[in-house]
Amino acid sequence: MEVIIKPNYEELSKYAAEIISRQIQEKPNSVLGLATGSTPEGLYKEIVRMRKEKALDFSKIVTFNLDEYYGLAIDSKQSYACFMHENLFKHININQENAHIPDGKIPLQEIENYCRQYENKIKENRGIDLQILGIGIDGHIGFNEPGSSLYSRTRLVVLDKTTIDTNWEKFFKKDGIAKENASSFAITMGIGTIFEAGRILLMASGKSKADIVAKFIEGPVTSQVPASFLQLHPNVSVILDEDAASKLQRYEHYKYSMGERKKLERK
Ligand code: GLP
Repeated sequence: MEVIIKPNYEELSKYAAEIISRQIQEKPNSVLGLATGSTPEGLYKEIVRMRKEKALDFSKIVTFNLDEYYGLAIDSKQSYACFMHENLFKHININQENAHIPDGKIPLQEIENYCRQYENKIKENRGIDLQILGIGIDGHIGFNEPGSSLYSRTRLVVLDKTTIDTNWEKFFKKDGIAKENASSFAITMGIGTIFEAGRILLMASGKSKADIVAKFIEGPVTSQVPASFLQLHPNVSVILDEDAASKLQRYEHYKYSMGERKKLERK
């Protein structure tokens, strides 16, 4: 696992955007796995800037989002579909047919089949080249809450109380939605699904993430901290800002190795 520490959120976002931009330039028909939440907002802003200023081309890009609340209307302001449209899709030249997000309105009896189809679509596109992830304060990735198996696939899940509370504070409250009306279910790619990505980029920012970041990078691999499974994936980069990295025991080592790597690149 490669750990990169950037001085602040802005630098973290720029760094992640550079990686995506390189991926798109090297492989214009890349398949990207996308995440929502407050963490990737800066990354998407940066990508939109690259589209405007450098004409970064998304015409052949295919995307699959990690997750969606279950039971929210697609056009509801809190849906991840709406988030993606507002923060990214409406600003870039992606073919809307190539932008996939789980449908949070699918009838209950059709969900299993629908999730299988979502996975098949990823396979038909030859798998995800680069997967973006954030992390919940309980260690969830996508909506794979503690207890999720390493082999879990795309499925309907019940959200943890802490996740509902945090996401309500961040995304529902401002629109005057009562906590009881915030969605407590979601459709999410599984950890097994995420693991099939060629490369994974996890971003974390801010003091509130410091404890869980130290846990998932330096603690034992356990389903109680789903992100810790990433220790087992061969190609993971974790990009942190100073605050999120502040509780890492090997903080100095990571800083040192970043410097050494730079020296090597300069040679
Ligand atoms: C949500 C999303 C995750 C995201 C997490 C952290 O629960 N399903 O994909 O990583 O929140 O969000 P934030 O970036 O807002 O801290």
